[in-house]
Amino acid sequence: MRLDKALADMGIGTRNEIRKACRANRIMINGTVMKDPSVHIDPDTDVITVDEQVITYQKYVYYMLNKPAGVISATSGNEETVLDYIDSTVKGLFPVGRLDKDTEGLLLITNDGPLAHRLLSPKHHVEKEYEVHVRDDISETDCDQIRKGMKIDHDEICLPAEITLVSKRECRLILEEGKFHEIKRIFASLGNEVVYLKRLRMKHLLLDETLKPGEFRALREEEIASLYDGIG
Ligand code: URA
Repeated sequence: MRLDKALADMGIGTRNEIRKACRANRIMINGTVMKDPSVHIDPDTDVITVDEQVITYQKYVYYMLNKPAGVISATSGNEETVLDYIDSTVKGLFPVGRLDKDTEGLLLITNDGPLAHRLLSPKHHVEKEYEVHVRDDISETDCDQIRKGMKIDHDEICLPAEITLVSKRECRLILEEGKFHEIKRIFASLGNEVVYLKRLRMKHLLLDETLKPGEFRALREEEIASLYDGIG
């Protein structure tokens, strides 16, 4: 891989800025000043420094964000986006799937397009677990309908989902699909209304409850590996 591409991918600068840094003797490979930004490096074995800071190249990075309410799950726009909460220089980050603006909780942020594609593909039935609070009591008939799979908005079919009541107006819901506003539309079809929604889990990846809304952290090795389980 070219030196300038590796450094640009890590958000160290544009290719032009990296060319200038090379000319200014600011970049070293294995302790030797490198003036040529097009040189090929092995990111696994070569030690690259910029201004004497070691740069560790990672092709893909993975973060979990505890998404706060009031923020959109997009990469750009006039409004505040989830990426505004990720303090990282890495290029090409995006959220894996969307949570509604008023939904809180677990959002995976990465630059790993192939993994995101697999996690979001309907054929993989990736589980997503939510904490759901509703306006009115949830009845046994409501639970039965949700468990069997139900029609929402007249003709759209939702796959069977797991529901566990926590109290009369709070439940845990596990979905294997991700239709637009799915949980809100399920409860609206039952004549109820979602008043609070938080994602707790995606596949085996649990929201780290030590993260306050708006905080993020890098995933641990075993958490990354678990995302590939069964879909790798
Ligand atoms: N279902 C919804 O209605 N909203 C979300 O944000 C996620 C699931």
